[in-house]
Amino acid sequence: MCSEQLRVLVTGAAGQIAYSLLFSIAKGDVFGKDQPIILLLLDITAMLPVLEGVVMELQDCALPLLRDIIATDMEEVAFKDLDAAILVGSMPRKEGMERKDLLKANVAIFKSQGSALEKFSKKTVKVLVVGNPANTNCLVAAKSAPSIPKANFSCLTRLDHNRARSQVAMRCGVPATHVKNVIIWGNHSSTQYPDVHHCMVNMSGSELTCFDAIKDEAWLKGEFIATVQQRGAAVIKARKLSSAMSAAKAICDHMRDIWTVNYHYWVPDDLIYSFPVQIHKDKSWKIVDGLGINSFSQTKMDATAAELMEERDTALAFLGV
Ligand code: NAD
Ligand code: LMR
Repeated sequence: MCSEQLRVLVTGAAGQIAYSLLFSIAKGDVFGKDQPIILLLLDITAMLPVLEGVVMELQDCALPLLRDIIATDMEEVAFKDLDAAILVGSMPRKEGMERKDLLKANVAIFKSQGSALEKFSKKTVKVLVVGNPANTNCLVAAKSAPSIPKANFSCLTRLDHNRARSQVAMRCGVPATHVKNVIIWGNHSSTQYPDVHHCMVNMSGSELTCFDAIKDEAWLKGEFIATVQQRGAAVIKARKLSSAMSAAKAICDHMRDIWTVNYHYWVPDDLIYSFPVQIHKDKSWKIVDGLGINSFSQTKMDATAAELMEERDTALAFLGV
């Protein structure tokens, strides 16, 4: 049993993603099956009564690793001495919106919470931004916490990765675990580039490139990319709510990889851009270097970078910085 308890914050803790996420974290799926944790749960004041119900349910799970639960609406309490921060709390989009339409509503939250990380959390804290638009909110949080290394900040594009992997797996008739090295470049938005040029598929024991396994380049370069880019919108259209179960699963995958194991392609500086990474045992990470990028890929990678630059400039204008 690891002796030191980890302090783990989930914001938006009374919301729908948190409801799918908290049980997995509390039972050891993310930080380890022998790692005791203290959960810090932040939501706005109006949601505290709902949060109290979530706390009761967590208590009623009688989980051995969950040593304490601190539910609060105060940043100075929630961000104190954190080892990990999962920043979910913010407004989700509705049908017909793009994620960047949420900037005005959400970006101030991440400025404030970035400042709280700076003031109250450990300098080693690992921060995962989920609230949309996730890349730009993450950039704002990192800029608001200048004494915490920028490499400690990441945003959730693992959901897109899981979606891409699953689409390939379904097309090939294999389990998702038989598909590896799918890459999501850029923004968690409809300009993201799901890239299968380095993807390998295990078909009946043989490792094939994705193009050889699927034998339909037009699908891979067209419908596949559009399906992954538009999957969040498709879920909202069907459910009238944005993804929650799959988002929670992706959060667990992302944070667990950073925690348990951890770049150079040209993109402009000062962006939070999704890259393929290798995660090391000390929780540091490195961008997978040297992958060949053809002109099809480069054009798509440039388009998502251009959108991120525009979002960054809009976010900074909203914040008056
Ligand atoms: P939700 O509305 O169910 O829950 C959001 C919660 O955040 C609410 O309880 C709300 O009160 C709380 N909140 C609002 N402002 C807050 C603040 N300042 N501090 C703390 N809590 C605050 O929404 P949800 O479905 O859980 O989605 C949350 C966010 O995650 C949305 O922005 C959504 O678009 C985003 N999201 C991102 C991904 C991704 O892959 N990056 C996937 C799914 C959803
Ligand atoms: C998703 O990809 O499902 C989330 O970002 C929610 C959304 O707004 O699409």
